[in-house]
Amino acid sequence: MVAYGSPLYVYSRSDIENNWREFDEAFGNHPHLVCYAVKANSNLAVLNTLAKIGAGFDIVSEGELERVLTAGGQASQCVFSGVAKTTQEITRALEVGVRCFNVESASELDRIELVARSLNTQAPISIRVNPNVDAKTHPYISTGLKENKFGVDIDDAISLYQQAHQSEHLNVQGLDCHIGSQLTEVSPFLDALDKVLELVDQLNQQGIEITHLDLGGGVGIQYDDEKTIDIQAYIEAIIEKVGNIEIILEPGRAIVGNAGVFVTKVEFLKQNSDHSFAIVDGAMNDLLRPSFYDAYHQVLPISENANGTQASWDLVGPICETGDFLAKGRDLSLSQGDYLAVMSAGAYGFTMSSNYNSRPRVAEVMVSGDQHNLVRERETIQDLFDKEHF
Ligand code: LLP
Repeated sequence: MVAYGSPLYVYSRSDIENNWREFDEAFGNHPHLVCYAVKANSNLAVLNTLAKIGAGFDIVSEGELERVLTAGGQASQCVFSGVAKTTQEITRALEVGVRCFNVESASELDRIELVARSLNTQAPISIRVNPNVDAKTHPYISTGLKENKFGVDIDDAISLYQQAHQSEHLNVQGLDCHIGSQLTEVSPFLDALDKVLELVDQLNQQGIEITHLDLGGGVGIQYDDEKTIDIQAYIEAIIEKVGNIEIILEPGRAIVGNAGVFVTKVEFLKQNSDHSFAIVDGAMNDLLRPSFYDAYHQVLPISENANGTQASWDLVGPICETGDFLAKGRDLSLSQGDYLAVMSAGAYGFTMSSNYNSRPRVAEVMVSGDQHNLVRERETIQDLFDKEHF
């Protein structure tokens, strides 16, 4: 902390590697590709760590694609998800040869076909179906219900597949489905898989062959005391249902979530008759999850302090919003200047950060064995308005 300043994200390289390998190894000899969902944490050092051990990547923008390529990842191991791929994004993805487009609507299929035609090539596609399954997670991160904007109705998918099958410029490869994030039970995944497999059968009957199933991401992690999914059992249950078909998974949070912490420093302690506030230097712009989803992150003291004040503290940031908090009601012994670790912050931490209140984005550090390296410099004040003009 002293070397890098505060606030700060710190990641563990070995945790990232071990988490990805747990997925990869659970498949044994079954054909598979574990595509890390870049949106969870897109730092180049994280991507490079995963590229080196053979990971594929799930990307949702040209920016993520270029990050993967810059970090040493292969386009041929990238699946391209997202509801609104632009012509430019599709063009670039075709030029570099992504593994597959996960198509989310009829109009997107038309656009991909048009771009592929103009480049005189074939676009590899899967249709993302919405199986109408309740992922039993936070409504903001549930994606597999009819009321969600993602994918196409499972009943409408057949006609899109027929259209794609007949096109000279589309190459039907797979079928895709992602029902939500931070799932703590396997049953919604398996219910969705059953629906997907029914569709695969119907397509086969029409002579449309599906060579891979992309079952998305969504495996939850432990933030508090929630139960989590046994990855080995989950993958074995998939393999049991699918026969020989290749499986793609897109885990994000499960790879990086518990491989990272957010470090913040107590600036002031402020107690009134009702509440004890620890005002810390980290804020909702740095780690949005508590404010946005009311998400729980465990908070641990980094240094033991014998002279601290014991209380039930609300950890609040410097931003001018009541919603700016990292944690509420935590029994801790605190004093000014203490460092705290906000746990499970490796996923959707830095990637969701912003410059709100003109706060420079924080530094990121990767720990590898007994080494530690700065993998993103702290932004400077000048960085904040470098691209502005008057
Ligand atoms: N694939 C697709 C198509 C996705 O939309 C997502 C996440 C993933 C894979 C990765 O899901 P994971 O394995 O990480 O659950 N910002 C929220 C999470 C949003 C997830 C969006 N999509 C949070 O902080 O909880």
